[in-house]
Amino acid sequence: MQRQCGIMLVALLIMGVTFMTWRRNISPQFNDWNPLQTPVPIELFVMSKCPDKVDCEQVFSEVLKQVKVPVSLDVNYIGRPNSSQPYGVECKHGPSECLGNIQELCFKQSYPDISDWFNGFTLCLNEEYQDIGVDEYLTTKCANRIGKDYAPVQTCSEGSEGTELLKNSVERTLSLNVEKSCTIYINNKLRCIHDEVWKQCEGGHDISDFARTIEEAYNKGN
Ligand SMILES: *[C@@H]1O[C@H](CO)[C@@H](O)[C@H](O)[C@H]1NC(C)=O
Repeated sequence: MQRQCGIMLVALLIMGVTFMTWRRNISPQFNDWNPLQTPVPIELFVMSKCPDKVDCEQVFSEVLKQVKVPVSLDVNYIGRPNSSQPYGVECKHGPSECLGNIQELCFKQSYPDISDWFNGFTLCLNEEYQDIGVDEYLTTKCANRIGKDYAPVQTCSEGSEGTELLKNSVERTLSLNVEKSCTIYINNKLRCIHDEVWKQCEGGHDISDFARTIEEAYNKGN
């Protein structure tokens, strides 16, 4: 009798665990409490001195304020690898743009919190985007505005770490055949392009449209 009860208990336990696992993995409406759910990847592909980049990043700073689900943000850069170029990459707006790309990548490397590298630093640079990559005046000013030491970023920008970050970033962009600044990927899919005007934006290009795409991706389990 006692043994039968034991078997019953084990069977119930197995059924319970199986049900919980099923709810978590199969049934999408329960994903919002699934702690294993990964953040939705947002990727912007840009050139640091391009006005479309400024517009795009402004829109996404608003999108990030709206979305209620976890996201990851990456900004990658458009350029052509060329070992004869000063930073090993040819950038459309010249070597100062390559340096600007590197400064933004290095800042993120040093200060990975999105409120620092994106909302703080990059959006501040964008206010004077034509001066990006020209010298250390703008970068230092923007770092100071959010109370961050620019020294480690400068060391990264002037060394092989910076050129390596740019090379990897450009390769990520090339791997997707992305050529237009700014191109937006959400959840590893092309979502929209801002090239003077919005293009290929099935699903809309308002802040709330992007927010909806992100939330839907999260609730579907990416
Ligand atoms: C690489 O850069 C050099 C120097 O500006 C240029 O002469 C050459 O045409 C470039 N190569 C390619 C493949 O674009």
